[in-house]
Amino acid sequence: MSEPVKKNMIPLSEPEISGNEWKYIKDCLDTGWVSSVGSYVDRFEKMLAGYTGTKYAVAVVNGTSALHVSLIACGVCSGDEVIVPTLTFIAPVNTVRYCGAYPVFMDCDAETLCLDIQKLIDFFKNECAQNKDGYTYNKNTKRRIKAIIPVHIFGHPAELDGLVEVCKKYHIDIIEDATESLGSEYKGKRSGSFGKTGCFSFNGNKIITTGGGGMVVTDDYALAKRVKHLTTQAKKDPFEFDHDEVGFNYRLTNIQAAMGVAQMERLDEFICVKRKNAEIYRNLLSDINGIRFSGERPEVKSNFWFYTINVDKKYKNSLMKYLISKDIQVRPIWRLIHTLPMYKDSQVYKIENAVYAYETCINLPCSVSLKEKEIKYIVENIKKYFESL
Ligand SMILES: Cc1ncc(COP(=O)(O)O)c(C=O)c1O
Repeated sequence: MSEPVKKNMIPLSEPEISGNEWKYIKDCLDTGWVSSVGSYVDRFEKMLAGYTGTKYAVAVVNGTSALHVSLIACGVCSGDEVIVPTLTFIAPVNTVRYCGAYPVFMDCDAETLCLDIQKLIDFFKNECAQNKDGYTYNKNTKRRIKAIIPVHIFGHPAELDGLVEVCKKYHIDIIEDATESLGSEYKGKRSGSFGKTGCFSFNGNKIITTGGGGMVVTDDYALAKRVKHLTTQAKKDPFEFDHDEVGFNYRLTNIQAAMGVAQMERLDEFICVKRKNAEIYRNLLSDINGIRFSGERPEVKSNFWFYTINVDKKYKNSLMKYLISKDIQVRPIWRLIHTLPMYKDSQVYKIENAVYAYETCINLPCSVSLKEKEIKYIVENIKKYFESL
């Protein structure tokens, strides 16, 4: 259970709900269109497809279900392998196991925290073989490597050119975990539009929220159709209760979609604020020795969903404790997934940068509602901590 935020605490990330949310939700209640069919679901899907530059979008209950059905729709089966980062929120890794497949853990890039592409290339070269069927098999386990889930960590897109190239060569499907990166761009193209599918989350802490919600985007009509089918209990007849496979009740409700439409109307504004606040943090933090504020690579435009700093590992826990005592909510980054009990026996490949990231990274408050004076207060307290050493 996450801890409640104290009344005067600067929260890590709180939703911004000050647009048309009330109006659109009221419309659902007034008209009785509250369930998983309705005009807001259609509008929300169209908005996401349009915004990400993809042809199709299917609304789902959360980001985890978006990843789960994407894996199934891409043909990931029991006994396959899927490459995942060890530095990520746990959801993408769990969805691999939901399919009965096995995760293979990769390292992150030291600068962006996203998948280390050079190590991925080395892994394919050194640890895999491409059979006559063109598919790639893990020499160690003899299993087929079917897919990869790159996660655009904290909003910063992974190195997508390199990833697309290597995955094409080895016949690996890319399922983009773009849950944190709605609106981020790589060489002018929006995240979520590079893989076979792109998956988004509208959980309460994301850049836009529907309370809980998700979306699968794709350019592939057949894939979109199958995702929609799987998420509606695989019901094949609109009248008869006729189902042709094991499906899921994964559809987003019209009420949630109504909130999504209102939030989407504000997305560009939210990204603008996040980027401006990143600049303020960066400038203010630049004169503190030993702190590195995560930026963006030149080919990238990040939505700066989360703000991350690196500090010497010997200060990380005590600095977090100090900031919390000053009513500033901060968080460590995720424990590396390959070290958790359920995954400790999985294959890992040369994980080094992720260990350093885990030991040194702290996430700072990042809400859209964050004020410049609050950022100044946060940075002043980081300074005070270091002066007190
Ligand atoms: C990287 C990542 N993947 C997947 C998810 C899962 O999304 P949801 O919580 O909507 O299921 C989240 C966040 O919650 C996430 O941060």
